[in-house]
Amino acid sequence: MRKITLNNGVEMPILGYGVYQVTPEECERCVLDAIHVGYRSIDTAQAYQNEEGVGNAILKSGVSRNELFITTKVWISNAGEEKAKISIEESLRKLRTDYIDLLLIHQPFGDYYGTYRAMEQAYKEGKVRAIGVSNFYPDRLIDMAEHCNIKPAINQVETHVFNQQIKLQDVMTTYDTKVMSWGPFAEGRNDFFSNDVLKTIGNQYGKSVAQVALRFLIQRNIIVIPKSTHKERMKENFDVFDFALSAKDMEDIAKLDLGQSLFFSHQDPEFVKFLLNYSRNK
Ligand SMILES: NC(=O)c1ccc[n+]([C@@H]2O[C@H](COP(=O)([O-])OP(=O)(O)OC[C@H]3O[C@@H](n4cnc5c(N)ncnc54)[C@H](OP(=O)(O)O)[C@@H]3O)[C@@H](O)[C@H]2O)c1
Repeated sequence: MRKITLNNGVEMPILGYGVYQVTPEECERCVLDAIHVGYRSIDTAQAYQNEEGVGNAILKSGVSRNELFITTKVWISNAGEEKAKISIEESLRKLRTDYIDLLLIHQPFGDYYGTYRAMEQAYKEGKVRAIGVSNFYPDRLIDMAEHCNIKPAINQVETHVFNQQIKLQDVMTTYDTKVMSWGPFAEGRNDFFSNDVLKTIGNQYGKSVAQVALRFLIQRNIIVIPKSTHKERMKENFDVFDFALSAKDMEDIAKLDLGQSLFFSHQDPEFVKFLLNYSRNK
């Protein structure tokens, strides 16, 4: 598995498995399937309510803890130094581990500077190997990177062929903060899996649309964490290291960029209110 070296020297697999919208009941089975397929990096979050399933799978997998790379995220309702500190302990307990490989602020709302201070402290205490953020667009990312002690190693943001995050990746390079894509298939939006450009390119290599889409991000040095509850698709999404897209393929896919979200805008007042209400129920 190809690895990416983060800005503190920690190595992280460039391809992992994400468990957003995997139910608590299914999560343990899905993560065990993913580990058996070969995935070693798992992305969860407090808000997904399935950290326990990930923790159970870690223990049952038989794979040593130091071969796995576990990411989780602090939700808005746990924002602020004191609450975040308690929630990190809770995540450790649910994940049945004594350290988290990568800990992110899930959303830039609430007292997230306080959250970040708690994360810096956990990092210093060895409870976390790397820290970063998620859903931080250029203004929030620059402000955080300029006002913290430990520069974010990662910013996990919506990134796929229709929203390529070229400008954000440029800004983040200044701080050696790596892009981690969420929604590498845009969750199927915009007829993702029947896109003609991706299909035609895939046919040249005997690869699927999903595999071409992942390969495009990996060749841009972007970390990917595709989600599937189906073992066959987990295998398909994992099998992307035996081919390479040409410069012409990369150019053709670059043209698919719409330069905006297919989901929502963090500047949309209605969406912000939705997120804050969501946090109250977690
Ligand atoms: N930080 C954040 O705010 C944030 C937000 C969203 C997601 N994430 C993270 O990013 C991960 C990935 O994003 P995502 O789950 O939103 O979406 P995604 O990976 O873009 O898409 C998942 C969807 O694609 C389907 N799928 C997967 N592989 C396929 C294949 N080879 N062929 C056809 N369909 C396939 C899945 O269906 P089946 O499951 O039925 O196979 C599911 O409906 C999440 O699981 C989570 O860990 C983070």
